[in-house]
Amino acid sequence: MQSQKQSRIVIIGTGAVGSSYAFALLNHHLTNELVLIDMNKEKAAGDALDLNHGIPFASPMKIWAGDYEDCRDADLVVITAGANQAPGETRLDLIEKNLNIFKTIVHQIMNSGFNGIILVATNPVDILSYATWKLSGLPKEKVIGSGTILDTSRFRFLLSQYFNVDPRNIHACIMGEHGDSELPVWSHVHVGSRTLKDLVDVEDQNVQEELNGLFEQVKNAAYEIIRLKGATYYAIAQGLIRLTRAILNNENSILTVSTLMQGQYGLDDLYIGAPAILNQEGLREVIELNLSLEEHVKLKKSGEQLKEALAPFRH
Ligand code: LAC
Repeated sequence: MQSQKQSRIVIIGTGAVGSSYAFALLNHHLTNELVLIDMNKEKAAGDALDLNHGIPFASPMKIWAGDYEDCRDADLVVITAGANQAPGETRLDLIEKNLNIFKTIVHQIMNSGFNGIILVATNPVDILSYATWKLSGLPKEKVIGSGTILDTSRFRFLLSQYFNVDPRNIHACIMGEHGDSELPVWSHVHVGSRTLKDLVDVEDQNVQEELNGLFEQVKNAAYEIIRLKGATYYAIAQGLIRLTRAILNNENSILTVSTLMQGQYGLDDLYIGAPAILNQEGLREVIELNLSLEEHVKLKKSGEQLKEALAPFRH
């Protein structure tokens, strides 16, 4: 009988996002080994104990609180560690604090001899994905940010409510910064195999107001959830599960992640959210959509904002 492929995932940061992702991994059984690393070693140890006690309800896997040496044999390292947005704070406000944390984290990962794929979830995720690529020396294909995978999921969910259709039949994406300058790609929204124009009069004033209001809900969702409960973690954990499955199961799935642009969409030398194909090698290719002029201009502006935000820290 063919033995199941052995895999190891290391989560760095067992705060709300990291521990929600760990719990989701227990229930999706995507890996044989799960290592939890946190600067609060007791928290990581407590999470490992708590998760191990759930294994009998799930399926066998090894879970332990470890340290950076455990990265050596990891297939995937997922970084969720860092400061979170406080109510009213933007993701870009976290740059300096989290860049400093990442310099230490990435150095320790690479010191272990790690040669797998790094998935970055900490905000500002586009800036920190770029920094991780630079600091790690890994090829760009092996450093992937969660990017706009969550924004895209929010977009698809709200469109599914608008059209009263299963969200799995909504094909749509948010591109750009995972943040205030992100943009909806209306030109490529499909409900099943029908386009937006097949379904609504996109010139109608009321329809435009409804759809713009829907996008504002997407863009501001995190602020609202943070206002209500202090942080977001369940949906981003689900997004990390989706990315993990695409990579570990070699799916060649199309997902909107933060990835390095090298001329695509007229953007260069920055990480930003775009549709891309993911498989066991990491990022296979960036997909270049035929954006409308308005979408193209917004994407360029989003890229410029990311570059401006990072500029003071480039050295
Ligand atoms: C959010 C966090 C993950 O958008 O940035 O909920």
